Amino acid sequence: MKLEQRYEGKAKRVYATENPREYVVEYKDDATAFNGVKRAQIRGKGEINNAITAHLFPLLEGAGVPTHFIERLSEREQRVRAVEIIPVEVIVRNVAAGSFSKRLGVEEGTELRRPVVEYCYKSDALGDPLINTDTAVALGWASEEDLTRIRELALRVRDFLTPYFAARGIRLIDFKLEFGKTQGGRVVLADEISPDTCRFWDAETNEKLDKDRFRRDLGGVEDAYAEMLRRVTQPT
Ligand SMILES: Nc1ncnc2c1ncn2[C@@H]1O[C@H](COP(=O)(O)OP(=O)(O)O)[C@@H](O)[C@H]1O
Ligand SMILES: [Mg+2]
Repeated sequence: MKLEQRYEGKAKRVYATENPREYVVEYKDDATAFNGVKRAQIRGKGEINNAITAHLFPLLEGAGVPTHFIERLSEREQRVRAVEIIPVEVIVRNVAAGSFSKRLGVEEGTELRRPVVEYCYKSDALGDPLINTDTAVALGWASEEDLTRIRELALRVRDFLTPYFAARGIRLIDFKLEFGKTQGGRVVLADEISPDTCRFWDAETNEKLDKDRFRRDLGGVEDAYAEMLRRVTQPT
């Protein structure tokens, strides 16, 4: 099934398959923060992020968001459509936190009057700098039409996930998405949605249940990831 490795990132490995239109993605326990400066293993993370993504992507498909996901193959692996990743990371924010709070001097936890979509250039070497959509078009990373579609899909993801998590006692503070283009030229949601790529706060206590526990040395990292898998798969 798995042939040669195509990419290795900080959290996953991507493998070719016999079918040129499909890849196998393998989720690792490796964690990095601050652009790779801080590194560790989070026990169980690969399995948990694989399971959370494999649970959410079909639900998003049902909500009108085309994705790369085909099926979960094993504890750490999933089969996906091979795409060309658009090198623009899309951040959607419901509540001020992280770099947004720092950049603008807005206290973490401040509710935003409307969702905010931000774009960063996906470049480890440059530390994923903030850009706008003009920059992405001017440098040939995406077309105007692609970016309009990406924004529409990102907000659709937000409109589905925010009440989904609220019903499971979680405030969805913000999240990062990656999109890719299929060989047919269709824009699809790729990569993952997990505690590595979202901020999740417990609705009762505001306890952080995401990668900020690792970034900020808050302890209880493994437990937070396990708790998020429980919440995500919890029926309501
Ligand atoms: N369906 C896909 N087709 C091709 N590449 C993908 C797909 N889904 C995710 N990727 C890419 O796989 C790489 C590995 O993922 P990850 O370890 O999260 O990387 P990163 O260190 O860039 O965060 C990333 O470059 C990501 O954009
Ligand atoms: Mg990643």
